[in-house]
Amino acid sequence: MRGKLAAGNWKMNGVAASLAEVESLVLSMGRPTCEVLLCPPATLIHRMSVVASGNIKIGGQDCHAKTTGAHTGDLSAAMLADAGASYVIVGHSERRQDHGETDAVVQSKASAAITEGLVAVICVGETLEDREAERTLDVIAAQLDGSVPDTATAATVVVAYEPVWAIGSGLTPTLEQIGEVHDFIRTNLNARLGTTEGDAIRLLYGGSVKPGNAAEIFAVSNVDGALVGGASLKAADFGPIVDALSNA
Ligand code: 13P
Repeated sequence: MRGKLAAGNWKMNGVAASLAEVESLVLSMGRPTCEVLLCPPATLIHRMSVVASGNIKIGGQDCHAKTTGAHTGDLSAAMLADAGASYVIVGHSERRQDHGETDAVVQSKASAAITEGLVAVICVGETLEDREAERTLDVIAAQLDGSVPDTATAATVVVAYEPVWAIGSGLTPTLEQIGEVHDFIRTNLNARLGTTEGDAIRLLYGGSVKPGNAAEIFAVSNVDGALVGGASLKAADFGPIVDALSNA
């Protein structure tokens, strides 16, 4: 039985005043049966971890593959852990696009995260062009093979399926399409890592998850939670998504 995870990715949003939303979320969500994670900008990791006071896990949005060194502007996994993070997102499509991150780079970041004791949330997902060309599963397979470290276990890795065209667009795949990709990811991880770990790794769906569509998405096979962008910024939106997952 896999645990469920409701994860929020604040992206480049949020200042100290935004922590009031986290206080509201902690108060409103009661005792969810799922794990709850928020990944704020790095500037807020420490303060958010204090406000969350153990009720919500905190994660980074990226890390460098090295531990220390001459890498101006970068943050290591060890630094994120030191600031209060227990997770880190790696290979988000915005990083792949904006910073040219390859599967090999993503894999090295995931390995660094695991070494430092963080859970790596490894993102994969096809573009609209890929989907229209009916190469979605080929793209996902290549990203999984290249981005997921051989050492991945259920305790150290979460995989997030985020179709690039569904992010921030209000568009979502059909439930059948989400199920097809999640089942495919499960089969791929089982073949690669063995069923003990492959069956236990949590798979998240991400891309325009809202309070209104969360419950139906959480009912899809092999969907163990969500990675939520815009709707994670407000307790009034993220709270109902956490509830939907708790009740799924
Ligand atoms: P939205 O929920 O805003 O579509 O973003 C999804 C996402 O990219 C989460 O990482």
